[in-house]
Amino acid sequence: MHVAHLSLADFRSYARAEVPLDPGVTAFVGPNGQGKTNLVEAIGYVATLGSHRVATDAPLIRLGAERAVIRTSVVDRGRSTLVELELTPGKANRARINRSDNVRPRDVLGLLRTVLFAPEDLSLVKGDPGERRRFLDELLTARAPRMAGVRQDYERVLKQRNALLKTAAMARRAGGGKGADLSTLEVWDGHLARAGAELTAFRIQLVAALQPLVAAAYGQLAPGGGDTALEYRSSFEGGLPTSREQAEEQLLNALQAIRKQEVERGITLVGPHRDELVLKLGPLPAKGYASHGESWSFALALRLASYELLRADGGEPVLILDDVFAELDAARRDRLAELVADGEQVLVTAAVAEDVPKALAGARFTVADGAVRRIDA
Ligand SMILES: Nc1ncnc2c1ncn2[C@@H]1O[C@H](COP(=O)(O)OP(=O)(O)OP(=O)(O)O)[C@@H](O)[C@H]1O
Ligand SMILES: [Mg+2]
Repeated sequence: MHVAHLSLADFRSYARAEVPLDPGVTAFVGPNGQGKTNLVEAIGYVATLGSHRVATDAPLIRLGAERAVIRTSVVDRGRSTLVELELTPGKANRARINRSDNVRPRDVLGLLRTVLFAPEDLSLVKGDPGERRRFLDELLTARAPRMAGVRQDYERVLKQRNALLKTAAMARRAGGGKGADLSTLEVWDGHLARAGAELTAFRIQLVAALQPLVAAAYGQLAPGGGDTALEYRSSFEGGLPTSREQAEEQLLNALQAIRKQEVERGITLVGPHRDELVLKLGPLPAKGYASHGESWSFALALRLASYELLRADGGEPVLILDDVFAELDAARRDRLAELVADGEQVLVTAAVAEDVPKALAGARFTVADGAVRRIDA
């Protein structure tokens, strides 16, 4: 698939922008802070309903404006779809698909699929477990949009169960160790185990599918650089579950076993929100051990593997490489370029034209002073 047109109103630094795009490689080049990342961030937002840079929508709205609009025309196997999103901080987003507003924003998921590489990806390797959980969950959603619902269900149940535990913990303290009716907690245990088991089982399947692709991509980016492994670590006991049913049973048992501690601390201590994806390079975890360059190659390998996986599902995703070449040495720069060069659409940003590898020759835009101008013939 590819984006044939991007149109922005009051998004980030842009009052207005109209950017016609072709399949193949397109590079956006311009000095720092001119709005290159803002363009690809908007495209990524349509694919994931979130920004790769910020957790809330407020920074996406142009300073002084009330709402932002992102409009993309997406062409997938010859069929064109117009996707429009209106972002108003503090309010629910509004979506339109082919000019119909009888849709929920969630319906937009799956219409545009992207794999975005960015400097922020280093935190996939070096950052907290939450970064790696989000990576898995976003990829699950890109592969199967209904996963957005599964994630939302789990978050909702977790929030309510935590609220209940917090009240219980407070009552317990006020009552000197007694008090707090916990009869409803059992109901929430059941809800949490059901929603949590589904998410856990999907993540475990995904990790198994990713593992060989990450190993292959890492080998291509850093030949002779060692073997990678991905290890999903569940926060509850009993070995990795092999089915949703088994995960549900394990989680339910774990909740019962840890109840006392949970009521003391007023928070849910087991479940997929506490699981960890361990990235290993040789026998060691990458986090805390891998060098800067190795961490970068690992992060890129995770993205490349995502790309391969989505590609194998059918409907090539759009590849976005935001400012990644400046961070790489010449050898890895060229290898990465070769690996992505034949993508249906590849969007690249770079502060200096020389950072765009030769293998990625294609259309070129300059981004400066709020304007996006096509400069090639
Ligand atoms: N909500 C907003 N309203 C107005 N301006 C904004 C908003 N959000 C970001 N900006 C401006 O956008 C600019 C950053 O744009 P962007 O991150 O796209 O730059 P870039 O071209 O990718 O730069 P670099 O080469 O450093 O990565 C900054 O100058 C910032 O002040
Ligand atoms: Mg940038």
